[in-house]
Amino acid sequence: MKTQTVFPPGQGSMTGQEIDPLLDLEAEINRLKREKNAVILAHYYQDGEIQDIADFVGDSLDLSRKAAQTDADMIVFCGVRFMAEVANILSPDKKVVLPDAAAGCSLEDSCQPDAYAAFRKKYPNHIAVNYINSSAEVKAMSDYIVTSSNAEHTINSLPKDSPIIFGPDRHLGAYLNRKTGRDMVLWPGTCIVHEQFSAREITRLKDSHPGALVAAHPECPEAILEVSDHIGSTRSILEFATSSKAKEFIVATEQNIIHQMQKISPEKIFYPAPGADGSCNCAQCPFMELNTMEKLYLCMVNEAPYVKLPENLRVAALKPLQRMLEISPPPAKKSVAAAE
Ligand code: 13P
Ligand code: SF4
Repeated sequence: MKTQTVFPPGQGSMTGQEIDPLLDLEAEINRLKREKNAVILAHYYQDGEIQDIADFVGDSLDLSRKAAQTDADMIVFCGVRFMAEVANILSPDKKVVLPDAAAGCSLEDSCQPDAYAAFRKKYPNHIAVNYINSSAEVKAMSDYIVTSSNAEHTINSLPKDSPIIFGPDRHLGAYLNRKTGRDMVLWPGTCIVHEQFSAREITRLKDSHPGALVAAHPECPEAILEVSDHIGSTRSILEFATSSKAKEFIVATEQNIIHQMQKISPEKIFYPAPGADGSCNCAQCPFMELNTMEKLYLCMVNEAPYVKLPENLRVAALKPLQRMLEISPPPAKKSVAAAE
């Protein structure tokens, strides 16, 4: 059973509220930012408009660091719910609001706390490493939290003779097993976005654009990673595509990241990776896309929905997250992540 962490209960966004169609949403959001001393944090998977109005755009690790360091009174988290939970865990004195509390994640959904507790019990001598794409309850049962940008480093820092259980993403887990030579026991979750790309269709697209390089997120299945020239977190994919000498790229991750790529390298061409039928909107995360400028504005006006974890749960989930921040290599000095 999931603990209530989002308020008001049962409400996704504050929909039903009328917004004057003539309202200048951008100006109003900026006004509210000043009035409420708020900071807007956005993931690369958010719509371009939201990325552009955010104070900071980044990947999961960048955003966690930013949430832990901010001196704003209010954190407006444009991403999905587990990311807003992380902000509350790391910055309990700030109010953490989000445009739509229904913005979940298929990885989190696949790994319910009761089922994870049973899994953990089955492997009492294993170190429990979990991907940040999980609920606060699952984090509280973990020894280490990782993101796609620090997972390999973290796993390599653990004693070689200690067995590990890894969840909830089995593709990321299998990739890490191949990279580190470990034999982690994997939870069987997947990301509904990264799982849908087709290696055959990517190869076909590459045939018609022979100079194009393929960049993929490690949440993709092995067949996709095998046809990729670069594998990494969203920030790493962005850095690769914008710093490479190549002019064309096939991007096997959520397609909104192309907004940043295009801003940094307007002369380059970026193709979202296709799915099995070659034409679906496979590269779009239905959870991320619940957030809109209207809902962003309303959550700042209403200061709701907001995330507040019960203190005992927050403190338990903080431990493995703090370990993550301590172990992670420092961010690159001139990183494109700092889209401020
Ligand atoms: P990163 O931000 O760590 O690249 O993860 C991508 C993702 O799927 C977030 O939901
Ligand atoms: Fe979850 Fe995948 Fe959406 Fe990221 S892209 S929030 S992993 S469903």
